[in-house]
Amino acid sequence: MGLNRERLEAAWPIVQSNLSQSPLKRKLPRAINFDLHIFDRLESTNKTVWQLINHGAVPGTTVIADRQTSGRGQWGRQWNSPPGGLYLSIALAPNLPVANSFQLTLSSVWGIATALRAYHLPVLIKWPNDLVLQGRKLGGILSETKIKAETVTTAVVGVGINWENSVPETGINLRSYQREHQLDRISSLEMLAAITLHGIASGVELMLSEGVEELLSGYLALLGSLGQKVKISGHPGIITGVTPTGDLRVELQFPNHSRVNLTGLAGRSPQSKPSRSEILVKPGTIRLGYDTL
Ligand code: BTN
Repeated sequence: MGLNRERLEAAWPIVQSNLSQSPLKRKLPRAINFDLHIFDRLESTNKTVWQLINHGAVPGTTVIADRQTSGRGQWGRQWNSPPGGLYLSIALAPNLPVANSFQLTLSSVWGIATALRAYHLPVLIKWPNDLVLQGRKLGGILSETKIKAETVTTAVVGVGINWENSVPETGINLRSYQREHQLDRISSLEMLAAITLHGIASGVELMLSEGVEELLSGYLALLGSLGQKVKISGHPGIITGVTPTGDLRVELQFPNHSRVNLTGLAGRSPQSKPSRSEILVKPGTIRLGYDTL
């Protein structure tokens, strides 16, 4: 059974009220008007939001589909989108400097994870854009942007979350998790959609109004991979953090790492100088496996 508009509209005020007690309470979405479009099947909800924007749709326009036939994942991958999952995209007008565009993904994944945690689900973040539950992938974020004069004028944030759809071995769906733990905190797909929308809007709002440092401290607190070992081009290192532009901070444990050519993988962000043994890894250049959260 697909997502039902009336049930979503009924879930919205309940979710707002529940989350008013969470760390998101200072950042309840204000003026966003969620102009909601629901479809049985689409190629991609991100694609449809862009089409609506091209026809004059305003920020807050939201598209949800029961399934996608060409779901888009990060870094040009496909997002398998059978019925039973949540596939949701929203139009935003963030007016962010282009160098900070990845903050849309960081703030959305943080906002959604925080909203789900308010329902006592121990969701963590895997850098840069994964929602993780019990060490397995629960969902992911894909932000797409339109840039004018070095500014992100328009963005589409798309989220896929496993609700009751089948998942690969490295994945998990929320319904099975709740059943296994005899929980029913999120009782419907509509409730999950309301929580997700609230999470995106609050996360982006926090980043735009309070600044990236505030966002990063929340993001790092939920980053499951912090302190874990990782290999960069075969060289061991430890994950120590994430920069304001979304690069992964890795402290190399290789004594003469400075002679190793890691160009192409690592880049230096103008906003933060790496220490001598630290390299910064751009999103999309390495993949943290599901054994290294
Ligand atoms: C990832 O690769 O982890 C991000 C996946 C994002 C998938 C969502 S599903 C809704 C929206 N529409 C798309 O085509 N992709 C995003």
